[in-house]
Amino acid sequence: MNGNLILISIFLLLTRSFTVKANVGWSDCSFNAIDVPIMDATFFSPDPIGPAGTNLSVQVTQSLIKPTTRFTKLVIQFTSVKGTPIGHSRHPLVESIDKIDDTFLAVVPQFLPANYLIKVAVVEVGLGGYTWNCILFHRP
Ligand SMILES: *[C@@H]1O[C@H](CO)[C@@H](O)[C@H](O)[C@H]1NC(C)=O
Repeated sequence: MNGNLILISIFLLLTRSFTVKANVGWSDCSFNAIDVPIMDATFFSPDPIGPAGTNLSVQVTQSLIKPTTRFTKLVIQFTSVKGTPIGHSRHPLVESIDKIDDTFLAVVPQFLPANYLIKVAVVEVGLGGYTWNCILFHRP
């Protein structure tokens, strides 16, 4: 990589993190071994989350690199700090849209450890499935 490319990459990384809108305490998902662009805007409430069995409402605004298919889903996942899944909800998206602007619910799972992660991601499920965008919230 030459110097210019490195500078451009740093610039893109910086501008990208400044344009992300989300509850405080977020990171990209590289920590979770998923190295993809961060979500544009992800706000959940309540924050801190309520007790097990209550709803978490997650408001997502996301421009997509290509239109959704019936395999494109919005996933909200609770994991341990090591990434072990604890609970998740998977929502279908309207087909052939290139922007998500909607609110999705997730139920707070039982037996959350003292420290946990909430991952919100746009994923293509099935064979050759992959993550399009992802954000991770570190809690508490
Ligand atoms: C969670 O949201 C669903 C769908 O709106 C609703 O049916 C359910 O009663 C809610 N649960 C709680 C505990 O508020």
